[in-house]
Amino acid sequence: MSNRPEYVSEAEMNRQEDARERIAALPNRPETFHIVTYGCQMNAHDSEKLAGMLLQMGMTETDDRTHADLVLFNTCCIRDNAERRALGNVIWLKQLKKEYPKLMIGVCGCMVQQPGMAERILKQYPFVDLAFGTHNLHTLPTLLYTLLTQNKRVVSVSAQENLIAEGLPAHRLAEYKAYITIMYGCNNYCSYCIVPYVRGRERSRRMADILNEAESLLKGGAQEIMLLGQNVNSYGNGTDESFPELLRALDRLGVPRIRFMTSHPKDLSDELINVMATGSHICNHLHLPVQSGNNEILAAMNRRYTRESYLDRVAAIRKSIPNIGLTTDLIVGFPRETDAQFEDSVSLVETVGYDAAFTFIYSPRKGTRAADLPGQIPADVAGERIGRLIETVDVGTAAVHQMMIGQSENVLVESLSKRDGRQVSGKGTRGITITFEGSEKDIGRIIPVTITSSAANTLRAVRK
Ligand code: SAH
Ligand code: SF4
Ligand code: F3S
Repeated sequence: MSNRPEYVSEAEMNRQEDARERIAALPNRPETFHIVTYGCQMNAHDSEKLAGMLLQMGMTETDDRTHADLVLFNTCCIRDNAERRALGNVIWLKQLKKEYPKLMIGVCGCMVQQPGMAERILKQYPFVDLAFGTHNLHTLPTLLYTLLTQNKRVVSVSAQENLIAEGLPAHRLAEYKAYITIMYGCNNYCSYCIVPYVRGRERSRRMADILNEAESLLKGGAQEIMLLGQNVNSYGNGTDESFPELLRALDRLGVPRIRFMTSHPKDLSDELINVMATGSHICNHLHLPVQSGNNEILAAMNRRYTRESYLDRVAAIRKSIPNIGLTTDLIVGFPRETDAQFEDSVSLVETVGYDAAFTFIYSPRKGTRAADLPGQIPADVAGERIGRLIETVDVGTAAVHQMMIGQSENVLVESLSKRDGRQVSGKGTRGITITFEGSEKDIGRIIPVTITSSAANTLRAVRK
């Protein structure tokens, strides 16, 4: 399958910039906006781009959705509950719109990109003014311009799956911690997953564009860069660029901390492990979703690795980087999963001993292969399984935390404790949240600490 991207032309990007300027001059443009984001980091970064564009239209951001002139929902559809939560919140605004007719409501992101969804929104949600998909996020200015000048609802979902729009402004949530999307889409077609259908073909950005972006973030004070992609290990597929090469180049730039997600176990090469082990700025954390510990289920999921090859990768990375923090994703209740097959997931979690794991109950997604499989698992059985799995994960987490007591870590401080205002917290290089005494001025700085104790999901520490 060709991974060749098509770049949005300069002329089109200029047309969008022009629309941003024209909106800024419109007397009836919204004054304030609020974006509600669901889903993964990639969506969070898309929201930063949406905010970047809206700010350039002269609007200001507000954190109160009940006081915004424009509310944009950037949605996720990875599981049914993600979708229902988003739609529930959209409907909730319907009442507000009755009281405040100037309110504009927009819906975008993965949910809208699903086939038939735009028509459904038009029909079932007449109070939604604007809807667009993931492939045409960069066209927000022209869509909004049409909405404001022609006074009609605007729905636009592009089917072109290989586009990359470079040069969009992004309003980052924090200067010290920045996301960079290095690749878009996914070609893996795991049988349960909707992402390839709503994010399009896998396509990688040019390394030079990524390095330029990283360089300007570094100049702006970035302490940490998180590289994003559904399967970052296959970055550059179909070109002569590769993920290890990109990591090496970023490491040389001197960004204090580099993280990335998500890594697909089938593509975790020895070369990548070697770059992680030898790089000076690459965090000792790897998110390596396993999904299941049973080979039949893994095959039915189309994951293209086995329990054994996954454990082999875990052993290889632990050999090279003994203090690596491993995290994972697991799905319980995949169609026809038996108790015995589920037990294989439990035993895999026991064997690996993760720092943390995200556990999900399988949710059938329309259009994916697994949605039509016989043997869907009853909710009560899946509920019991996830409970047991979480207990097992927690035992592993507690053991890792116990082992960390007395060790040194470097924490990038992200927030001040709401409770007493004298505690700060952030993540160590291994990815675990660590809390210690500090003040507002520590936010955005990397501070060396010694771990003193473990409390629930966090570690406590003292400054060195
Ligand atoms: N690209 C990443 C994950 C993207 S989605 C990867 O390959 O691992 C994040 C997680 O959501 C997945 O790892 C999976 O555990 C979960 N997930 C995806 N589709 C799901 C579904 N239909 N039901 C339940 N969980 C799902
Ligand atoms: Fe979904 Fe699989 Fe692609 Fe991850 S690798 S986004 S789980 S299809
Ligand atoms: Fe959700 Fe789309 Fe991310 S479906 S998990 S927001 S790629």
